[in-house]
Amino acid sequence: MKKIFSGIRPTGNIHIGNYLGAINQWIELQKTEDCVFCIADWHAITTPYEEKNLRNIIFDLTATYLASGLDPEKCILFVQSKVKQHTELAWLLGTITPLGELQRMTQFKDKSQKHKEYINAGLLNYPILMAADILLYNTEIVPVGKDQVQHVEITRNIAQKFNNKYGETFKIPEPLISKEGAKIMSLQDPEKKMSKTDDSKGSINIFDTEDEIKKKIMGATTDSDSIVKYDEINKKGISNLLNIYSLFGNKDIKSIEEEFEGKGYGEFKTSLSNLLIEKLKPIKEKREKISNEDIEKILNEGFLKAEERAENMMKEVRKKMGLTL
Ligand code: TYM
Repeated sequence: MKKIFSGIRPTGNIHIGNYLGAINQWIELQKTEDCVFCIADWHAITTPYEEKNLRNIIFDLTATYLASGLDPEKCILFVQSKVKQHTELAWLLGTITPLGELQRMTQFKDKSQKHKEYINAGLLNYPILMAADILLYNTEIVPVGKDQVQHVEITRNIAQKFNNKYGETFKIPEPLISKEGAKIMSLQDPEKKMSKTDDSKGSINIFDTEDEIKKKIMGATTDSDSIVKYDEINKKGISNLLNIYSLFGNKDIKSIEEEFEGKGYGEFKTSLSNLLIEKLKPIKEKREKISNEDIEKILNEGFLKAEERAENMMKEVRKKMGLTL
């Protein structure tokens, strides 16, 4: 069994990009591998957030995981801020992480551009905390979307550096990227990735109503020639929609192109909204049956299991670093 770790920030609604890029892979992996998944609330607070809502968002995210098919019998599911070893390891790893590497991270540059009034040290140190998340659990594989690969790479560098300096301790983790779902683009601007925080019209959320799904798909940006054909360079909008269609419909892009030959964008978009409505419906129905008590219990059990593993790793790290008092 391979050791798997991944996480997601509780910063808003889960969209189909998160679902196709990350959660979908996790659901497959939990069947055969040793999986640990966290709700990265310490990461979420590096950008503006409302403290009153954080708990609800965490509960909602857990419910989304469960409704999508994550099974607490088959994986460990926990909230990052409950397991204090994450901050302890992050501090220690910070002492061997070069400042220059943190400053050149794409996400740091993007987020500090977007939130000029909120450029904080936490945002800069974000990848160190993510490295701690991953390394605490002896992780071998990190299933993520493309935008997180740079953070897995810095984790590899940090782990290697630690092993060289203090002796073999961490496994060197590899990113795992699902080929087609790796980067789902915004429906409004197919040059940008679909994002939880940036634009609501550009992303389809798992719990959007049927009406919202229809409106967003029908209003998705496409070019003017109306030919349903995949062309990532010249027809980015329709290519993104074809990709979504193919992933949810389990069909290859060629056969979808054939199905819609000579039919135009209107018909294609209607069919795509119907497909999304049909595929997201069971997740919504399952969500309604999950109570806050269920969630609390699952997160608490996950916390106990995660903490035990994290503490075992920390014992070794403290010893290696001479922190034995
Ligand atoms: P976050 O919350 O931004 O995104 C969660 C997961 O969804 C993927 N993703 C996408 N995939 C395809 N298309 C998109 N448009 C899209 N948008 C997001 C992300 O790549 C990610 O896999 N720092 C992480 C959370 C984290 C983490 C970790 C991940 C904290 N600790 C340890 C892995 C391991 C983040 O902000 O993801």
